[in-house]
Amino acid sequence: MKVTVVGAGNVGATCADVLAQKDIVNEVVLVDIKPNFAEGKALDIWQTAPINLYDTRTIGVTNDYSRTAGSEVVVITSGLPRKPGMTRDDLIATNAGIVKSVTENVIKYSPDAKIIVVSNPLDVMTYCAYLTAKVNSSKVFGMAGILDTARYRAFLATEIGCSPKDIQAVLMGGHGDTMVPLPRYTTVAGIPVTELVAKDKLDAIIQRAKTGGGEIVNLLGTSAWYAPGAAAAQMVEAIVRDQKRIYPVCAWLNGEYGLKDIYLGVPVILGKNGIEKIIELQLNAEEKELLNASAKAVKEVMDVLDNMKVVA
Ligand code: NAI
Ligand code: 2OP
Repeated sequence: MKVTVVGAGNVGATCADVLAQKDIVNEVVLVDIKPNFAEGKALDIWQTAPINLYDTRTIGVTNDYSRTAGSEVVVITSGLPRKPGMTRDDLIATNAGIVKSVTENVIKYSPDAKIIVVSNPLDVMTYCAYLTAKVNSSKVFGMAGILDTARYRAFLATEIGCSPKDIQAVLMGGHGDTMVPLPRYTTVAGIPVTELVAKDKLDAIIQRAKTGGGEIVNLLGTSAWYAPGAAAAQMVEAIVRDQKRIYPVCAWLNGEYGLKDIYLGVPVILGKNGIEKIIELQLNAEEKELLNASAKAVKEVMDVLDNMKVVA
């Protein structure tokens, strides 16, 4: 089984590395447009195999999509990352052109692939890939919710002083400051989080999770890669091992949550067919209002993409 990761930069190379260490596919093909870059990253990753004891071959190519043929899953990370002061939406024009051309190449050689988009602005780049790929929406989706939830869970683990393994949470909405962490659906080893964390502390953690991407951009001068790469690899694992995991994923909505024709983060079951089911939670009025506000913000950027006519 083959998996392709397009973009051998910070997120793409990390995703390939994590994936290789999981030892769940025969081959990971890393593609980049920068000459020799993917080749170098792939060779370095492959040289960890004798140390980390796995068999997955990692191969790097410069824009040669024929080497990606027959991929089960393709992860698209190609595109510019944020710099301090930029929002994810500032990246739209450049990254839409990149995501469109990459998706065309991916679909040409792997028409049945499940496509996981990572490039920002995430919800809109996933829409761009969907419009370009012209396949069922169950096969084109985006990675953001696992990362955003991981940030929320990590902050909670620090606050409570417990293992992050024990924190289960759901988060919905767009990958931006309007995302909707859901304390009512957050538990710590089965205990409602509200019994362990005071409201003011919980509110501060939710706010920090919402701006967690920007916090790292301000520290590093570019956006995060360890957690994003690991999150994308976790989605690949759910698909190639047909795990039916329930994850927050950026999915095409067709009436779920009263929303239609929009890519937005919702809990889904992820398996060998891609998105196998969208789970509809019984949100209360306040949660629904926050989700609608997030949907409105995403739709505005989707409209920007539509008006740019990048994708015919
Ligand atoms: P990076 O700059 O380290 O890597 C991007 C790579 O894409 C570069 O190596 C570049 O040469 C390559 N590339 C550009 N155009 C290409 C094309 N047409 N074909 C193939 N490769 C091409 O950036 P990084 O940090 O890896 O971020 C990648 C993207 O992921 C950015 O848009 C960033 O905003 C986004 N991101 C999304 C997250 C999410 O939660 N969805 C989290 C973190 C980053
Ligand atoms: C992140 O959340 C910038 O989307 C990127 O780290």
